[in-house]
Amino acid sequence: MKGKDSGAALQKRLEAHPESKARKNHAKTLLRTGTDSLSRRFPALAALHGGFGGGPALPGRIGAMTAFQTLSRKASYLREFMRTPREIGSILPSSRYLCREMLAAIDWKSAVSLVELGAAEGVLTARILKRMRPDASLTVYEIRPEFVRVLREIRDPRLTICDHSAEFLSGNHDAIISSLPLVTLPKRVALRVLNASMKAIAGRHGGLFVQYQYSSLAERFLSRFFVWRKTFVLRNVPPAHVYTCRLRPPAAPGSLRSFLG
Ligand SMILES: C[S@@+](CC[C@H](N)C(=O)[O-])C[C@H]1O[C@@H](n2cnc3c(N)ncnc32)[C@H](O)[C@@H]1O
Repeated sequence: MKGKDSGAALQKRLEAHPESKARKNHAKTLLRTGTDSLSRRFPALAALHGGFGGGPALPGRIGAMTAFQTLSRKASYLREFMRTPREIGSILPSSRYLCREMLAAIDWKSAVSLVELGAAEGVLTARILKRMRPDASLTVYEIRPEFVRVLREIRDPRLTICDHSAEFLSGNHDAIISSLPLVTLPKRVALRVLNASMKAIAGRHGGLFVQYQYSSLAERFLSRFFVWRKTFVLRNVPPAHVYTCRLRPPAAPGSLRSFLG
């Protein structure tokens, strides 16, 4: 089996062979024993993170390969982290609790244009697609080719994947959901992303920028562009702050702020 096959191609191969059922079961067993042994070795962490069994199946994926691919994706996430820790920023994908908090403030009934920055293997992407309106669109920015390959397996006409830096984000959007490690990225990159994000939500009533971070060090950056409120998600490894950011309200005419420009 070639590592580079798409999910659909792999599924076809499996179906073409009579032993495919056995392979399916083998893949499931592999996944179960792999994640079971992780959970046995680190029970407290597994309980905190809500298990190491992987996120939801990506839309457009197929049963048996989802199990097999989930296990190899865990390894690939870790491998990518080892290669560029400052760019990836976390050793594990977000827990379901962190995903839920990241998406809590979005008005899903009205949002028609959404953006995700730094999708990695698509844990949050799958949840966004699940909650989005059928006529809404999601544009994802991800720079690691390994992750882009995985994201391209998602079959959803509402999804567009941009394989370049989030600094080049453009257009008008209702919500921008960011997992970028702002503190470990080069400062100029972080500031460009925040500046582009601020402009992109400025044209929308109630536009939102949502960001998670593992420390409060990025607050000084966020405050340059937004006003924000912070919540804390304990059930994630490591626990994370979620910042829900909006545009700074325009200064009232005659106020000191407007006087100073
Ligand atoms: C913490 S990981 C994302 C985790 C994932 N969204 C989740 O919730 O499990 C951060 C991701 O941002 C990506 N990234 C880093 N710098 C970027 C940039 N300038 N533009 C787009 N993506 C970037 C990394 O490749 C990595 O996949």
